[in-house]
Amino acid sequence: MIAGCAPEDLTPAEAAQELARLAAALDAANLAYHQRDMPEISDADYDRLKQRNARIEALFPDLKRPDSPSDQVGARLAEGFGKITHAVRMLSLGNAFDDDEITEFDDYIRKYLSLGAGGLAYTAEPKIDGLSLSLRYEQGILVHAATRGDGTVGENVTENARTIADIPVTLTGAPDILEVRGEVYMSHADFAALNDRQAETGAKLFANPRNAAAGSLRQLDAAITRARPLRFYAYGWGALSAPLSETQMGSITRLASLGFVTNELTRLCQGPDEMLEHYRAIEARRATLGYDIDGVVYKVNDLALQARLGFRSTTPRWALAHKFPAELAWTRLEGIDIQVGRTGALSPVARLLPVTVGGVVVSNATLHNEDYIAGRDSRGQEIRDGKDIRIGDWVQVYRAGDVIPKIADVDLGKRPPEAAAYTFPDTCPECGSAAIREEGDSVRRCTGGLICPAQAVEKLKHFVSRGAFDIEGLGAKQVEMFYHDDLLPVREPADIFTLRDRDAAQLARLKNRDGWGDRSAGNLFQAIDEKRKIPFERLLFALGLRHVGEAASSLIATHYGTWDNFVAAMDGAAACEGPDWDDLLSIDGVGKVMARALVTAFAQQAERASIDRLVAHLDVQEARRVQADDSPVAGKTVVFTGTLEKMTRAEAKSRAEAMGAKVAGSVSAKTDILVAGPGAGSKAKKAAELGIETLDEDGWLTLIGAT
Ligand code: IVH
Repeated sequence: MIAGCAPEDLTPAEAAQELARLAAALDAANLAYHQRDMPEISDADYDRLKQRNARIEALFPDLKRPDSPSDQVGARLAEGFGKITHAVRMLSLGNAFDDDEITEFDDYIRKYLSLGAGGLAYTAEPKIDGLSLSLRYEQGILVHAATRGDGTVGENVTENARTIADIPVTLTGAPDILEVRGEVYMSHADFAALNDRQAETGAKLFANPRNAAAGSLRQLDAAITRARPLRFYAYGWGALSAPLSETQMGSITRLASLGFVTNELTRLCQGPDEMLEHYRAIEARRATLGYDIDGVVYKVNDLALQARLGFRSTTPRWALAHKFPAELAWTRLEGIDIQVGRTGALSPVARLLPVTVGGVVVSNATLHNEDYIAGRDSRGQEIRDGKDIRIGDWVQVYRAGDVIPKIADVDLGKRPPEAAAYTFPDTCPECGSAAIREEGDSVRRCTGGLICPAQAVEKLKHFVSRGAFDIEGLGAKQVEMFYHDDLLPVREPADIFTLRDRDAAQLARLKNRDGWGDRSAGNLFQAIDEKRKIPFERLLFALGLRHVGEAASSLIATHYGTWDNFVAAMDGAAACEGPDWDDLLSIDGVGKVMARALVTAFAQQAERASIDRLVAHLDVQEARRVQADDSPVAGKTVVFTGTLEKMTRAEAKSRAEAMGAKVAGSVSAKTDILVAGPGAGSKAKKAAELGIETLDEDGWLTLIGAT
């Protein structure tokens, strides 16, 4: 079958046929997406078709069609965005969390400006949780729009910005040069509707409105942005050929009169008391605003004073973001479910009476482990004043950023008299095997190994996850489906690689099933085939062995080079002594616990047989030592915090390590660079205190030359 065939293996005749098929498929997908607004295939599938088309065209340039999808206007182009250097840098804001810090901010400014007592005026307005955008108008015409990027250079998203209704394309009566800055965001209602549409088409769901706004603005095809309901609040400016006003408030009013949408909750406040009063007023309206805000921004109103105050390295002295604390809500604990993870860990999950926390309905929360439920931390110290958690209790739930909700407190006054202390199960709820807690471990684990269906499914989910095999079209949902499938079961990783052949031998073919078609089944088999060639470190990480994460997998892979060397060494080290054992322990980053987990896994008969069955289907690539000495981050210690938009945390980490950087989990004096995405909290604060260089994601990508 040509469709599944590697481009390199096609004959010219087959290539021409395949290019025709791809042109038709992409054309149909474009029509569905742009004109009917009803995508028929996921973005990822679309990109794959596009890449395949480009690869075949590169191999057979003479066969490139006149209607080649690579040249289509309005199609999703493969190239990235152009770059725009901001005429005036786009900075971030200093953060405050407590009321006291607002008075300190005012004191600091007065001192800096040598002002006496008396009302210094500030504007106070919501801090919109979206992404910033700079719009440049020349002679009243929008000439370009750029994202913040690293603050100095942003991405050119002009075409996309033009599709946003709140952004005027022409202005009357504006200064000749006017750069308007503001926040692109998505309302809660539009976010929910977009995710409903994404779900219907099987496309990726966005985690929150900010991600949805970012994903929608940063589309290579403006037609997609047009179909996404983005909004824009103007809150500032960059380069100007003439001042807008003498004050911040006057400038915002002027922007409104030019046709920009400004936030109606912007107020002029005379000093800290009024600032805090307005902060509380905005906070009280937060849940009903219909869009996400994460604090209040204060700005010195007098622009002459703003100019005198100027900037620190990345933040203005004349402005401050007063962040909201994590949101809290009380609700009833209806039950405790036990989930079994891939390493057998029994994780208790609180089932809650659904409650709205910060605009999001929360119906479950993590309970960590049995000690946590009992009111103790991992060192046996009391938490929540020692209050245990019982089914039927009223519990206080909080949500900080995108993090899974947690339980902060229990209301003992409302505890039902019949509520009994929770007894943690000592058998696995999934397979009935004994669940034991080893000394020093806070977690109870199922001892069923591969016979436990929950462990097997979780292992498979891990196996196909992004840092592992990352098989397009085979995610957690599909793995779960195949695991329980009687005709085409996938019970262990090796089964994935026999799917195509087993399917071909069936009468009831996958392509004829509900939810599948010729194309989706073919795509799946092709995606699986593409991953038969796999880097050593990915394979090792994908096995999901306890204690062996992504970083360790790459260290081990680089140490042993080839898979065969490694397996021979594991066999040699099986007794946890001798030269192979010592050699394993000599790897910087591999301790005894991890080493033991590794050799045990390879010595355990059933597990080893399962690994060997898998490897028989693979072409495991040799790991090479990275020559990272001359990389700009070689030898530096980097910490990632907040949300990353362009890659997973795991990917960011492995890329940094591949360039010779050391990635740490917390900020200390030894940290060289903090990469802070949106939602960064205490780490960013600490880095600022220690004067550590802080970059946003784009700044980091620029530094490592990945843009
Ligand atoms: S003023 C010189 N005002 O917050 C700094 N920023 O944490 C100018 N933001 O990058 C920023 N709402 O994307 C300002 N009302 C508002 C804002 C706001 C949201 C964002 C903006 C900025 C980030 C800093």
